[in-house]
Amino acid sequence: MDTPRNTSQHTPPTTPPATGPSAPPGAGLLAGKAVLVTGAGRGIGAAAARLFAREGARVVLAARTEAELRAVTDEIRGVGGTADHVRCDLADPASVRAAVDRAVELYGRLDAAFNNAATVQRPGPLDGATEDEVDHVYAVNFKGPWLAMSAEVAAIRATAGKGAIVNNSSVGSLAANPGLPLYGAMKRAVNSLTESAAVTYGPEGIRVNAIAPGTTLTDMVRAWEQAVPGVIEGLNARTPLRRAADPDEIAQAAAWLLSDRSSYVTGTVLPVDGGLRA
Ligand SMILES: NC(=O)c1ccc[n+]([C@@H]2O[C@H](COP(=O)([O-])OP(=O)(O)OC[C@H]3O[C@@H](n4cnc5c(N)ncnc54)[C@H](OP(=O)(O)O)[C@@H]3O)[C@@H](O)[C@H]2O)c1
Repeated sequence: MDTPRNTSQHTPPTTPPATGPSAPPGAGLLAGKAVLVTGAGRGIGAAAARLFAREGARVVLAARTEAELRAVTDEIRGVGGTADHVRCDLADPASVRAAVDRAVELYGRLDAAFNNAATVQRPGPLDGATEDEVDHVYAVNFKGPWLAMSAEVAAIRATAGKGAIVNNSSVGSLAANPGLPLYGAMKRAVNSLTESAAVTYGPEGIRVNAIAPGTTLTDMVRAWEQAVPGVIEGLNARTPLRRAADPDEIAQAAAWLLSDRSSYVTGTVLPVDGGLRA
């Protein structure tokens, strides 16, 4: 997420056309792949889990809230997809490693991972944050993705051999982010880790990319709107497409980067932001 600098008339978001039920085996963009999605209980991660399954992937959904994970898993299974879930707190290293292990246990392999889960800070200037808040954002938004990537690379190497990882960054990592300074800094660190991982693991056929979403209509952005009324309208006014994204529009970019269609793309941080950074 990115801090808005001005405001104007809010244009309501449009919902993209729903894509169909689960694709027949072998037909989808991610057919045959075993994919871990963190933060899959709601928002962008839930949209990604649904989409990846429609595209033929066997998905493992991870987050802290079991009820949300179960609901999305049941929904995917209900339309013929293959899904399971595992509880995981990015601030708990053992549970992150266990989530990756669970994916391999379930499907016998790991081909890809979408490291999507993150927390957001209490909005405000950097001198207003407490040390505990800094430690928490660091643990969940930087150390968690580092732990996940480390375990995922080991699992991909040991099973599928080659694969792809996508980290969910933010357009708010690409410039100053005075309203969410800790969040912006940790997301920029994730961009750096993404690039380093791409260079380190490229020679063995593991691609690592990030996406940088703009304003996306999820609980995270709604909570920010509650704390700072008008923030969505301000962001939409600065966005050339003049609206926020539906979570599925962000998931589509992650699906492509995890698929073999992007086979020569690695080390990139792809804005999916309606042109916000243009
Ligand atoms: N929405 C936007 O405008 C926007 C813009 C740019 C980037 N992003 C990024 O997109 C990603 C998804 O955000 P969202 O908007 O979909 O947010 P969301 O609706 O709040 O969903 C966040 C997901 O992450 C999980 N999560 C949070 N803390 C966690 C933890 N400690 N361990 C494991 N899972 C955790 C949540 O589940 P539990 O709470 O159950 O654990 C939930 O499933 C994040 O990386 C966010 O920074 C969002």
